[in-house]
Amino acid sequence: MNRRQFLKFNALSLASIGIAYGSPMHQMHHNNTPNAINTSFINFAPNDLKLLSKDQFPSGKKLKKITLLKNESKEKNFFRATIEIKESQIELVKGKKTKCYTYNGLIPGPKIEVYEGDTVEILVKNQLKEPTTIHWHGVPVPPDQDGSPHDPILAGKEKIYRFTLPLNSAGTYWYHPHPHYITSKQVYMGLAGIFVIKARKDALSHFDEKDLVFSDLRLDENAQIPENTLTDWLNGREGEFVLINGQYQPKISLQGERIRLYNLCSARYLNLKIQNAKFILVGTDGGLIEKPIIKEELFLAPASRMEVFIQADKKGELKLESIYYDRDKMMVKEKKENLFLAHLNIEKNPKNLPSALRKFETLKDPQDFKEIIMSEDHHKMHGMMKKSKEEQKAALASMFLINKKTYDLNRIDLISKVGVVEDWIVINDSHMDHPFHIHGTQFELISSKLNNTIKKAEFRALRDTINVRPKEELRLRMKQDFVGLRMYHCHILEHEDLGMMGNLEVRENNGKN
Ligand code: C2O
Ligand code: CU
Ligand code: CU
Repeated sequence: MNRRQFLKFNALSLASIGIAYGSPMHQMHHNNTPNAINTSFINFAPNDLKLLSKDQFPSGKKLKKITLLKNESKEKNFFRATIEIKESQIELVKGKKTKCYTYNGLIPGPKIEVYEGDTVEILVKNQLKEPTTIHWHGVPVPPDQDGSPHDPILAGKEKIYRFTLPLNSAGTYWYHPHPHYITSKQVYMGLAGIFVIKARKDALSHFDEKDLVFSDLRLDENAQIPENTLTDWLNGREGEFVLINGQYQPKISLQGERIRLYNLCSARYLNLKIQNAKFILVGTDGGLIEKPIIKEELFLAPASRMEVFIQADKKGELKLESIYYDRDKMMVKEKKENLFLAHLNIEKNPKNLPSALRKFETLKDPQDFKEIIMSEDHHKMHGMMKKSKEEQKAALASMFLINKKTYDLNRIDLISKVGVVEDWIVINDSHMDHPFHIHGTQFELISSKLNNTIKKAEFRALRDTINVRPKEELRLRMKQDFVGLRMYHCHILEHEDLGMMGNLEVRENNGKN
């Protein structure tokens, strides 16, 4: 099939006519002898788990700024810093110490603020009793510096991550652990931080900035962080306390700033709304969009980021809420309730927003394609409640699939070439939403297809994470710029740990495609 035919193709039928996923390795790995599935990382909270009551968590305090990670370098265009990863006892609730995992003792971790063109060198000391990595989510760094599960920092060891930020990489990123099987646990224990690459000059660089970092936290009645329940493993964990910059229901005052929003939750979808105010969307994961777009609601899937301004109809006190979003969880009945997140005090609206923000290069037509099918093996769900714990673990560890397989650290699933523009058709062949993420690049959504309706993307934007609704197909255009191994996966972190992930090998481009 040539490219032209492919472009006209209905992606869902690719699999049915038996086209391999663009990878010769694909045929070489017949996993006829199934590896024993590892379930040792799956633990369950006790059945009689009691949660901390909401009123025990301090709320309503003035929003704090995120602590900056200190630059230890005096050299120009050079950022050098140290991050210690350790267990900390933090007093979140009065009179109680919560055991957390922290970056430099902080929840969320310190903010890394750097500029395009900077060289970044970060010494990471792993003082945990288990392996970890730091993955620079969305940042264009070489594969061997990207904290992938293939390069763990073992307990008690350290590693220096070093990379140079290319031009045009200004954007809103974050960092988190990515060790094999235990990413979700390390994130719910507290490990996540934000990473901003600034342009020396962009259309908005004269505005003040504010970061709103959303994360969620579960605490038991003793203010300790409990393990996952069965439904957390199935749907992804949503902690009951949704925090902004580590604070519960804070008071935020606004003066017309450029606001960066980060969804660092493992699985929680945010659908932000402010009664009597509008969002002006100006950027996505990978930086500014072409022009401001007015939005009544902002949909932020797990791991997504956006840049916005907030324009209120009148000055004064408003409420930031998350509107209920039904993502069709398994084995839970939810109340369709909105969630109160913060008190806003709008003192000033933004002034003199430019009408043009950025020029995008037009991407070349795709020279190759990939097909990704995310699915759930529902046979594994049969009689779930009647299964023994061990059977439940085995079912969990083999039911979240990409292209019909669970993740294998040592299997290459797809192959791409450096610099070659590809269209990835990402299909959600399941009942639940799954946010798709790929390492090493930012992609552009070209179109989406749901219930036989094809929609062109509403606007051009660079993203590294995008939600795929049940039965939806997305066409994402991208290229990879470095040789090496990259992951793509569902960013519901429990699904990632349970195997909804694949390895992409990016090879040298010898010119012959
Ligand atoms: Cu944010 Cu592979 O991760
Ligand atoms: Cu990533
Ligand atoms: Cu998922």
